[in-house]
Amino acid sequence: MEIGFIGLGIMGSRMAANLQKAGHQLLVYNRTPDKAAALVAQGAELLSSPQNLAQKSNLVFTMLSTPEAVKEVAFGHQGFVQSLPANSLWVNCSTVNPSFAIKMAQYTKDRGHRYLDAPVSGSLMPAEKGELIFLIGGEESDLRQVQELLDIMGKAVIHVGENGQGSSMKMVNNMLLAHAMTAFAEALRLGTSLGISEEMLGQTLLSGPAAAPFLKSKQTKILNRDYAPEFPLEWLHKDLHLAAITAYEQNVALPGLQTTKELYAQAKEKGLGPEDMSAIYQFLQSGKV
Ligand SMILES: NC(=O)c1ccc[n+]([C@@H]2O[C@H](COP(=O)([O-])OP(=O)(O)OC[C@H]3O[C@@H](n4cnc5c(N)ncnc54)[C@H](OP(=O)(O)O)[C@@H]3O)[C@@H](O)[C@H]2O)c1
Repeated sequence: MEIGFIGLGIMGSRMAANLQKAGHQLLVYNRTPDKAAALVAQGAELLSSPQNLAQKSNLVFTMLSTPEAVKEVAFGHQGFVQSLPANSLWVNCSTVNPSFAIKMAQYTKDRGHRYLDAPVSGSLMPAEKGELIFLIGGEESDLRQVQELLDIMGKAVIHVGENGQGSSMKMVNNMLLAHAMTAFAEALRLGTSLGISEEMLGQTLLSGPAAAPFLKSKQTKILNRDYAPEFPLEWLHKDLHLAAITAYEQNVALPGLQTTKELYAQAKEKGLGPEDMSAIYQFLQSGKV
């Protein structure tokens, strides 16, 4: 049977394209069908609903924005899970919170299927180059079934543990990502206020031990004032919101998380949600915090 791929945004379109380039025949669905055009031109079949896709596939990848979108596409009106052939495998690459992933896994098992959480670390360029890092939660045997496909889309596959654990690792990762981005933006803000150029600050900070490696590419975007989305700011805010829910569920206090989350909420209110996460610097620069 062919591979189903649902969600052809920034990440999903590139992940699916890599599967296709490796010779796999794809069935695809996207809420906005136009985004499937490039894949269809290369031979993918575009289905008119998630349900129609499920009737022809027993292996479905999803790369959707939020838990709400995932739930709607999987279990809503025209959702795909109800129409899958028996014992199908759903590989959910979307970033969702651990308790939601566990719920999705349970609902899926209740209907006689299997579920892997498989969120990814890495953004637009790693997705394009097939260099993502997959963080897996689920059964070893289910992972074995898709390992070859994950190896096409990624450079590493980490089996963190059971269902929910892949999403847990992703949550922790993105909390760190947001803090690092914010810390760098604030360092630039203070440094420039003291008369040091953005170039000098970037060069110095990024060649030292204190800055996270991913900030090199964000520095380029900041210098070029190019906030075209690689990782949309609104999805980073979503991840911080999900981390906050998770901290509540775990009875863990994370005061820094709350502050960072609200900073991204303010930037979103000012219309920066669809821009790249690095636009948090633009927001700080505006002095409207
Ligand atoms: N971009 C990154 O750097 C990055 C890195 C790692 C992980 N992630 C995670 O990967 C996921 C996808 O991110 P992305 O950057 O590819 O986002 P994106 O470009 O905004 O794509 C989101 C996808 O979800 C679909 N969608 C949203 N709401 C829907 C709904 N109610 N029903 C059906 N489809 C819906 C969109 O359909 P339409 O095209 O119709 O809007 C689109 O296919 C998110 O969970 C994000 O947090 C992103």
